[in-house]
Amino acid sequence: VPGVRPKDEALPEPRGADLAERLPVSTPSTVKLNVDPVTVQLLQDTVTRYVMPGAEIEIADVTPLRAGLSGAEIRRYRLDLRSPAGERATTSLITKQASRTERRVLAHLHGQRQPGVPFSRTLDMEADAALVCLQDVGDVRRPYSLDPITPEQLRAEARSLAAIHHANLGRGAELAWLPRLDRTYVERRVIEGWWRPHWEAALRNEALRGVLAPYIEEVEAVARRLPEEIAPVLEDPGYHTLIHADVNPSNVLLQEGRAYFVDWPTAHYGCLFVDLPHHFCSLEQAEYCRQALAERRVEIEAPEFEWRYRLAARMIGLRYLWWTLEDAGAAARDPRWVLHYIGMITAGAMPAAG
Ligand SMILES: Nc1ncnc2c1ncn2[C@@H]1O[C@H](COP(=O)(O)OP(=O)(O)O)[C@@H](O)[C@H]1O
Ligand SMILES: [Mg+2]
Repeated sequence: VPGVRPKDEALPEPRGADLAERLPVSTPSTVKLNVDPVTVQLLQDTVTRYVMPGAEIEIADVTPLRAGLSGAEIRRYRLDLRSPAGERATTSLITKQASRTERRVLAHLHGQRQPGVPFSRTLDMEADAALVCLQDVGDVRRPYSLDPITPEQLRAEARSLAAIHHANLGRGAELAWLPRLDRTYVERRVIEGWWRPHWEAALRNEALRGVLAPYIEEVEAVARRLPEEIAPVLEDPGYHTLIHADVNPSNVLLQEGRAYFVDWPTAHYGCLFVDLPHHFCSLEQAEYCRQALAERRVEIEAPEFEWRYRLAARMIGLRYLWWTLEDAGAAARDPRWVLHYIGMITAGAMPAAG
């Protein structure tokens, strides 16, 4: 009869607090929580593989996590588990709508049992976008570059990254499906995409132009020369590996002394130095990376490391400067971040000849 609600809908809508409450295992909470069957299947499958073989799951609650820059929705599921023997446990998993590249990279890295990458599972490796389920590695982000960081945190991050870089060094044939990060990427994406439009807009703002004035000539000279100067670094196959290419604090989570890298849609096959300067933003900090690579017998002599690192730092400074310029008023009032990236762009010696 029109106008008459089915019985279930007559129940009061669950309030936020109810969602956070753990429901008894016997309740069909997946229906109440409006979780679609594909997601339930993915969660079930992930639990069975990686958490508790054969366990039945009950969804206790779902929390949407703040979507990152891509806006892809990320959800945290708290689950009650019951093993075939009747044992009970709880766990937490993350789901994300992920591109094909991201799902392939996650599967590849999981296949390598990378210590610094959450385990992952997808039911569809072919579609352009599909849900991936990830190990929940918590909410502690790596500190921002302007905030203090401990040597232990730097070491943990350097080790996770070195493990990824080392395991994939020279494996271009196997990773033929990954895009290459080459000179064209620097020209089109870094310089013309991320840097120039924001730089030019910033210079049109009088207050911000005042802050930038002492650096304009040098930053523009670096931007002009960089694609050619960095080409030998980017093109040296000796340092080619699977790289993340968007290392930033929202993509590096710290849990129990370990650093985990998430958010892999921007992964490339390219020069490992590209992944270092954003978080190891001085040569002194980058030494943790050199050491971590050496622990895995990727030995790079200090001078050799230094000139490659410095060129990569210029590129990374130009790559990320944009976000500090977006709010010109704020940047003019507090230019610490602007000057941080400009420091990376203009720092240090010119590359060794040859
Ligand atoms: N495996 C995970 N464990 C815990 N939190 C995660 C995990 N994956 C993503 N997140 C959280 O969700 C945020 C956005 O996820 P991310 O993969 O970086 O997507 P994007 O930045 O493209 O939106 C992350 O910054 C992090 O806070
Ligand atoms: Mg992210």
